[in-house]
Amino acid sequence: MDVSHLIDPDRGLIRGEIFHSQAIYEQELEQIFARSWIFLAHDKMLPQPGDFIQNYIGEDPVLVVRQPDGSVRAFLNQCRHRGMRICRADRGNARNFMCSFHGWNYGLDGDVINIPHGEAIYDAVERAEFRATPVRLANYKGFIFGTWDAAAPAFEDYLGDFAWYFDAYIDRYEGGLEVVGMHKWVLPANWKFNAEQPASDMYHGEVSHASAFQVMVPPPKDAHSPPPDWAMRQLGQLSNPSGFQFASPYGHGNGWFAGGMPTMNETIYRWQEATAAQVAARLGPERVLSAGHANIFPNFMMLSNYTFRVTHPRGPNEMEIWAWSMAPVAAPAEVKEAIRLDLLRTFSPAGMFEQDDAVNWEEEQRILRGHMARKAPLIYKQMLGRARYDADGLPGRTVPHVYAEEGARGMYRHYMDMMSGAPWPDLTRRKQQREDAERRALAAQGQPPAKPDA
Ligand code: FES
Ligand code: FE
Repeated sequence: MDVSHLIDPDRGLIRGEIFHSQAIYEQELEQIFARSWIFLAHDKMLPQPGDFIQNYIGEDPVLVVRQPDGSVRAFLNQCRHRGMRICRADRGNARNFMCSFHGWNYGLDGDVINIPHGEAIYDAVERAEFRATPVRLANYKGFIFGTWDAAAPAFEDYLGDFAWYFDAYIDRYEGGLEVVGMHKWVLPANWKFNAEQPASDMYHGEVSHASAFQVMVPPPKDAHSPPPDWAMRQLGQLSNPSGFQFASPYGHGNGWFAGGMPTMNETIYRWQEATAAQVAARLGPERVLSAGHANIFPNFMMLSNYTFRVTHPRGPNEMEIWAWSMAPVAAPAEVKEAIRLDLLRTFSPAGMFEQDDAVNWEEEQRILRGHMARKAPLIYKQMLGRARYDADGLPGRTVPHVYAEEGARGMYRHYMDMMSGAPWPDLTRRKQQREDAERRALAAQGQPPAKPDA
């Protein structure tokens, strides 16, 4: 199905049909999820040989397994006999995996190692034919991504300029990150409503999360004192929307406030303040601030409070969210605990911000049952035509405002490219040509003004 009549990133218009249609959803599983790099695990989730976790590429269950030699492999968690799930546990440690239907046994690498009565009932067991379907993997600073597509670009190329921003989330401190908490839940809304938000929508925070932010301001010392200064300064960030948004040709997006992302958690705030100079020396001053909210296309999100999450597609009208709290290994124990509790209070299923967001997404989805609602183009025009390249010390394509929709336009432009079904080498070439043409035009015309009235 051609979706190009539903998406017009140049004019900032997208029709709601892409969030509702079953046919488009099926095409997403084939053209988006089966061909993109999908987050599967972090090294710290698999410390020992035999450690495994189950994750998903779209709706395909995948087993990610630490091998005896320390490497990691992943394969489709589907028995080659009748398609039962090879391993039914979400995580654990195993010496091998036995399918609970007829007892085929798979090694940690996905090869079949025993078939009950195999020699009596099969002429031959061809290793390549009988092994579980392998996933192509990449490991970027401990973050393990997988794809089915042998022709997809190397993961570093897929990240492109976003690698610089990704490091601001995952490589702020020596020693990297470790998992301190996890939550899973299901929401009746399309996966893209979630994915586009960290890529592009800081705009909703001031309104959708207004009451949650107010409630989270720590109480004053007594009835006659004002709330703490540090917390009021954090709150003030929301009404001072100077900042930036980044958009990648591969659909990744990032947005951040120039004054830093607000936190209402005093333990985290104090620790960030105490380590600010150290982090600035490691990352450089522009990059320190660039950790706001981001999405690696299609469905891996990161938030400035050390939340990392995937939104698994579960039909056009449902998503399943998995959120990990990952704290810097270098942080003291009380900061790690504060980070764990911060996810619980903000972006877990019981979290205040998450519930605000869920109300919006569920209502958007419900409205799309209507005929006119699906046809009417939704407006994604914020900071349209204001993109610059390599400006303000920031790599890649950015706009100089945190309230912008450049990230979403970039995401849906790439979405449209992928949904066309064009093979990866053609897509990569087309993206490079598009970027070269834009850079040439900007060099000829000069950078666009930072504000519509400038
Ligand atoms: Fe797995 Fe038969 S389905 S052994
Ligand atoms: Fe939100």
